[in-house]
Amino acid sequence: MTRKPLISGNWKMNLNHFEAIQTVQKLHYLLPKDIFEQIDVSIHPPFTDIRSVQTLIDSEDLDLRVGAQHCHWEDSGAFTGEVAPVFLEKLNVEYVVVGHSERREIFGETDEMVNKKVAAIQQHGMTPIVCCGETLAEREAGETETKVLGQIEAALAGRSNEQIAVLVVAYEPIWAIGTGQTATADDAQSVCHAIRERVRDLTDDATADALRVQYGGSVKAGNAAELMGQPDIDGALVGGASLDPDEFARLIQFSVG
Ligand code: 13P
Repeated sequence: MTRKPLISGNWKMNLNHFEAIQTVQKLHYLLPKDIFEQIDVSIHPPFTDIRSVQTLIDSEDLDLRVGAQHCHWEDSGAFTGEVAPVFLEKLNVEYVVVGHSERREIFGETDEMVNKKVAAIQQHGMTPIVCCGETLAEREAGETETKVLGQIEAALAGRSNEQIAVLVVAYEPIWAIGTGQTATADDAQSVCHAIRERVRDLTDDATADALRVQYGGSVKAGNAAELMGQPDIDGALVGGASLDPDEFARLIQFSVG
């Protein structure tokens, strides 16, 4: 089973819409055009940048995919400050990050909310990137798999095999995010493998073999090749290194070998 890798740049709360346009233009210019036959690349800017990025991608027919970092699960209503999945669909957003550890820790996003968002995103024809990951304390207590697999089971509850096969899971150990510390390739592979095997138990071989599992946490150009070379790692969710088009372009190129 060959899975097309997905590299996603999660810009978090960085780069305004002017900076976003420059960054996307430069990134696309730096990447060889045929690389997109081997790899998908999504850009997840802040909400206020998405329309500008989408217009640029559409008007210049760029091969990059538009992504978002978050959304609500309802189509409309009294949810001040929130953004509905249907709004993102109208902006040609293809991938939406769900349950990022920063949303869970800082903004109180629960497994139940993540589950509702996954359903809403798929209902609007977009692909959720479902995040999971353990804290350092959980890792040191030997609870990594319990935590991560519990988050994944909760996120996928109620989804059909067909719906699970097309989504993306991102394993992001919290202690590796923005710290410069990366899980070793063996450790990252081992958790990504455990996720796939749990999905196999919950579904079937075809679903588990189709699922794309990303690794995230201080991925840079210098460590991308080793991480991406692991059999159960099908891409990366990249924070800091995705803000610099030179570094991100190198990271993407090293990811395809
Ligand atoms: P860094 O790549 O900056 O560690 O961030 C990872 C991340 O949280 C991406 O979603």
